[in-house]
Amino acid sequence: MADYENILVEKRDDRVGLIRLNRPKAMNALNGALMTELVDALGVLDADPEIGCMVVTGNERAFAAGADIKEMETSTAVDMLYSDRISLWDRVRDIKKPVIAAVAGVALGGGCELAMACDMIIAAENARFGQPEINLGVIPGAGGTQRLTRAVGKALAMEMVLNNRWLSAEEAYRFGLVSRIFSNELHLEETLRIASEIAARAPVALRMAKEAVNAAFELPLAEGLRFERRAFYFLFSTDDQKEGMNAFVNKREAKWQGK
Ligand code: CAA
Repeated sequence: MADYENILVEKRDDRVGLIRLNRPKAMNALNGALMTELVDALGVLDADPEIGCMVVTGNERAFAAGADIKEMETSTAVDMLYSDRISLWDRVRDIKKPVIAAVAGVALGGGCELAMACDMIIAAENARFGQPEINLGVIPGAGGTQRLTRAVGKALAMEMVLNNRWLSAEEAYRFGLVSRIFSNELHLEETLRIASEIAARAPVALRMAKEAVNAAFELPLAEGLRFERRAFYFLFSTDDQKEGMNAFVNKREAKWQGK
């Protein structure tokens, strides 16, 4: 793994790759250097056969307080257009293995958007989600108006984007933005436990499952259903399907080969 300055990367024995955003003095503001390192590390872990699932986290105070405002303050529209800095974020979405955002503290602006670009969000009790860009004279630029609206619905997304309403962990759970909440003390440990369970599952099926659920966000229903059915049929070409069904019938535990 390359030497990174803005993230810490740990390859764990249980097939989990853990990435910690590590700019604590700047509340993990997502500058270009951090995002470049993050997508690089995700890409390396995605290509690593010893890894089955990734967790992205921050610290107890901040998952991330958004894109780095100091880096953008004096940018012109043309600077933004040519640097196209947000295109880097699309690479998070292109990762094939499951990625979990473990959010403690604030996930604001780009921080909330980064968490939503992951496959699921697991929150600590102290997590807070918001899109405060309106206070800066701009709007969310990395998916906030789109993914948030799909996750929590129009009325709440409008209130968050138009009027900087923040959600507590409990509200985020109630409105479907996060899948679980754990106490601040157990949050990372429990998220890593869930990640290791996912990482131990049939790899080809995992990849298809992630793609199929994501298709529900992007495709009309008929196309999504067609994609799902093709993926389902395709999995009958894998050794893992034979193994999984045979293990069930013979009341034994399956051993996945990833082929
Ligand atoms: N960019 C750059 N630096 C940031 C930052 C950000 N998004 N958020 C916090 N920081 C820095 C602060 O400037 C401060 O640095 P200094 O010590 O050098 O002054 C340090 O982090 C600690 O922050 P605070 O002193 O403000 O800490 P606080 O506890 O009083 O407040 C906070 C914490 C509520 C997160 C507050 O810092 C804040 O509101 N941050 C900005 C949140 C925001 O507007 N995010 C949206 C960014 S734009 C965006 O993300 C666009 C997009 O869609 C891609």
